[in-house]
Amino acid sequence: MLAAVMAFAACNSSGDMSVASPDGKIVLDVAADSSGVVSYRAMADGRQFARPSGLGFDMEVFRNGVAEPEKVSLNGGFKVTSCRHTRQDYVWTQPWGENKTIRCRYNEMAVGLSGNGGFLVTVRFRVFDDGFGFRYEVECPGADSLRVMAEKTMFSFDADADSWSIPANFDTYELDYRALPLGEVPDANTPVTFRTADRALYGSVHEAALEDYPEMTLTACGRNAGAAVFESSLAPWPDGVKARFAGSSFKTPWRTVQVGRRAVDLVNSALILNLNEPCALEDTDWIKPMKYVGIWWGMHTGVQTWKMDERHGATTENALEYIDFAAANNIQGVVFEGWNEGWESWGGMQSFDFTKPYADFDVAKVMEYAREKGVSVIGHHETGANIPNYERQLEYAYEWSQDMGMHYIKTGYAGGVPGGHKRHGQYAVRHYRKVVETAAAHEISLDVHEPIKETGIRRTYPNMMTLEGAKGMEWNAWSAGNPPVHYVTLPFTRLLSGPMDYTPGVFDVLLESTKHSPLRQKWNGLDRGDSRVNTTLACQIACWVVLYSPLQMASDMIENYEGHPAFQFFRDFDADCDWSRALDGEPGEFISVVRRAGDRYFLGAITGDSPRTLQVPLDFLESGKEYRAVIYADGPDADWKTNPCSYTISEMTVSSDDVLEVKMASGGGQAVVFFPAC
Ligand code: NOJ
Ligand code: CA
Repeated sequence: MLAAVMAFAACNSSGDMSVASPDGKIVLDVAADSSGVVSYRAMADGRQFARPSGLGFDMEVFRNGVAEPEKVSLNGGFKVTSCRHTRQDYVWTQPWGENKTIRCRYNEMAVGLSGNGGFLVTVRFRVFDDGFGFRYEVECPGADSLRVMAEKTMFSFDADADSWSIPANFDTYELDYRALPLGEVPDANTPVTFRTADRALYGSVHEAALEDYPEMTLTACGRNAGAAVFESSLAPWPDGVKARFAGSSFKTPWRTVQVGRRAVDLVNSALILNLNEPCALEDTDWIKPMKYVGIWWGMHTGVQTWKMDERHGATTENALEYIDFAAANNIQGVVFEGWNEGWESWGGMQSFDFTKPYADFDVAKVMEYAREKGVSVIGHHETGANIPNYERQLEYAYEWSQDMGMHYIKTGYAGGVPGGHKRHGQYAVRHYRKVVETAAAHEISLDVHEPIKETGIRRTYPNMMTLEGAKGMEWNAWSAGNPPVHYVTLPFTRLLSGPMDYTPGVFDVLLESTKHSPLRQKWNGLDRGDSRVNTTLACQIACWVVLYSPLQMASDMIENYEGHPAFQFFRDFDADCDWSRALDGEPGEFISVVRRAGDRYFLGAITGDSPRTLQVPLDFLESGKEYRAVIYADGPDADWKTNPCSYTISEMTVSSDDVLEVKMASGGGQAVVFFPAC
């Protein structure tokens, strides 16, 4: 892994501070005006992309043991003290990921500033071919402690750009996406993705390496000469402080802007990972991607319960059956939700116990059986967001899980965080980080539901494998559900931040097997009794490829897979891919993605409401080789509303010279496995 690091001249004699991407196509300039207001702007392909946008903070400083803080405005009054350029170019590998090998190549410009109140701020800009990021490194020599009262980072792009985002909310990401002209977005959580009106450029604003800071959302603060202007908003502590630091310095996460000429460039970008620290773990051999099933959908559809009663899902008997199914179907993992005591308190005190199984779940027997069958058990920790209760048990619970042989844990935070804390504030960010580090110390990999947003922490801690962090499959069990457009928006928004545990693959799309069951009880206030999955069956299969997760679930109850011909796709699918490429797509319309695992390729394509036919060149296949393509397609009469379960399975021999016609119904999709022909 080599790197060329070189410092060369500071800013040029006219005082311009400028840095270009290695390919020269993105140019970022920094300027300080006469009142010391510092701003950045970015050109892409010779046109203004990010308009001049200010940088700064409102701070409070504690010094000399004095109880009252001094308020300091860092919105102007800056003097530029230095401007240093460096560059990097190296290749790194990760134990798992969409791509196991990644090139990290950027030009850096570190602008040193001295500000009011004795503050020294370095703004470090890194410009890549696929976008840019910058972070603040703030120091106030001699301070006892620091408080960020507001971050004043501005973002400004063409107001008439089309955009896709969820509203800003410091407690949840499980919200519907909106497609709006950027100038009409009142506030948004990141990633916020947009496309210029002439469709020449795509961008997405997010953050990288959120380690000890609150999350950032965007709040619109007006329009200016055709530009939509946003300011960063930070999730507050209960007392209104945004971030607090003992000592005299801190670093923010990277503020990131991905840039592409096609929508799929954003999907194929590794900018977020490249702005994270290298792997902190010496040994990562224990971290393995896998497919899984679990006792889960029955609870969401209301025919089983998490708590121990006559409808209890996670009984020893059911668990053994799921292990048998996994072992027989080339599935490496199983999750059992509702295995532990505390579910009676869900929605109330949220006092779960993470080492006490319910009396009808013989954990030792289940673990022994799983071991014999070569299946991994994913432990489940629903915390109800009672962070203090979880932290009290954390060390012991992870030690116990490791001793029991559980090498994966799914966590959940369904509930409000006690003490008036926001789920996305600095307090919670520190908690999520502590869990990742504790899990790593016990060689346990994580699947986090109701998480703090993914910002690339997986590079540093690859045991942080997958997260929910958007409306997932569960919403289809007990609400109006996720419309087709949701599936074709996720890859261009939420998934730009990292893997998602959407848990696709429900085959009983209309919930026929649970809707009329005498066992079914409504448990969720949004349940109107008419829930269903709002796609075709073939689209659900394609989502296993499209919605990347190194822990990929087949989320239906196993009785809906037994004997189903289309389940062969999941048997053949490999969650441990080596290489991926998003081929084509537009946010909210469609996407096609290919992944390679060993010598097999998996193609997934999905469409929103409009039926669509794609011509997909197979030039990603190894040239000069023949492949047996097994194609899982929408039936000719399929339609997500009226005939979602019509599908076909066909086979053909193909090579890299061929073009595959991929025909998809409304709300449909197609999945293909390419096996090397022997
Ligand atoms: C919400 C999670 O997203 C879901 O997967 C889980 O089943 C429930 N919480 C209960 O823990
Ligand atoms: Ca959830």
